[in-house]
Amino acid sequence: MNALEVSGLTVRYGPVVAVDGLSLVAPSHSMVALLGANGAGKTSTLRAISALERGRSGTLRLYGEDVTRLKAHELVARGLVHVPERRRVFSTMTVRENLELGGYRYYRQSSELRRQFEATLDLFPRLRERLTQTAGMLSGGEQQMLAIGRALMSKPKVLMLDEPSLGLGPQIIQTIYKTLQAISAQGTTVLLVEQNAHLALRVASHVYVLRAGHLVAEGPPSEFSQEATLAQAYLGSDET
Ligand SMILES: Nc1ncnc2c1ncn2[C@@H]1O[C@H](COP(=O)(O)OP(=O)(O)OP(=O)(O)O)[C@@H](O)[C@H]1O
Ligand SMILES: [Mg+2]
Repeated sequence: MNALEVSGLTVRYGPVVAVDGLSLVAPSHSMVALLGANGAGKTSTLRAISALERGRSGTLRLYGEDVTRLKAHELVARGLVHVPERRRVFSTMTVRENLELGGYRYYRQSSELRRQFEATLDLFPRLRERLTQTAGMLSGGEQQMLAIGRALMSKPKVLMLDEPSLGLGPQIIQTIYKTLQAISAQGTTVLLVEQNAHLALRVASHVYVLRAGHLVAEGPPSEFSQEATLAQAYLGSDET
């Protein structure tokens, strides 16, 4: 069963076509990566899937159900959750408050909220040590953990992440990617946008490559293990 199925997605900003007829699927429990250079249309794709872009067309299915017409908050309520670029956290609120805000709408019972809170902190022990700290004071890596943790608080079925490694050091990236693998192993479908292809190729089960809004390559990571294949997918054979 496909958790997420996007077909013919097109995103326009006035005369600019940022994404042109993209189709992709994320099978249930998979970790799928969407790669591409700056301006390829990765963020536009995630924002359009989340119903945050007006100028979009195409269809979206969640577990087989057509959800193309749902609004952003309705998609979140169905379990499609998006961690945007540049890890936005509420910087004047504490780590605990940020996490609680991520969950409070989706629980009828506070016991469920507490369970999810504990499960999230088990995945990110560094956040547990910093619950009373103001989010704005966290390091970049910790803020990324908090942004992901906040998304997890709503118990996503499909978690979409926009460049979670951006601007972070290698060690913290390792930690975050290990946690993403754990999240995926626990049954959450992950759609990962990355500019760092090598990183994504290590964890993804299937890879899509976007260039100037077009899908130019897709397949299992093994098909991209040669440097030349990857470079060609990014740059195109017509540019030599
Ligand atoms: N709000 C907007 N208004 C007009 N054009 C936009 C807007 N957002 C994105 N674009 C254009 O759409 C194209 C795709 O941008 P997008 O941000 O989706 O790329 P990206 O793959 O996420 O790039 P990056 O790796 O730099 O984040 C670019 O040409 C960009 O200039
Ligand atoms: Mg982007």
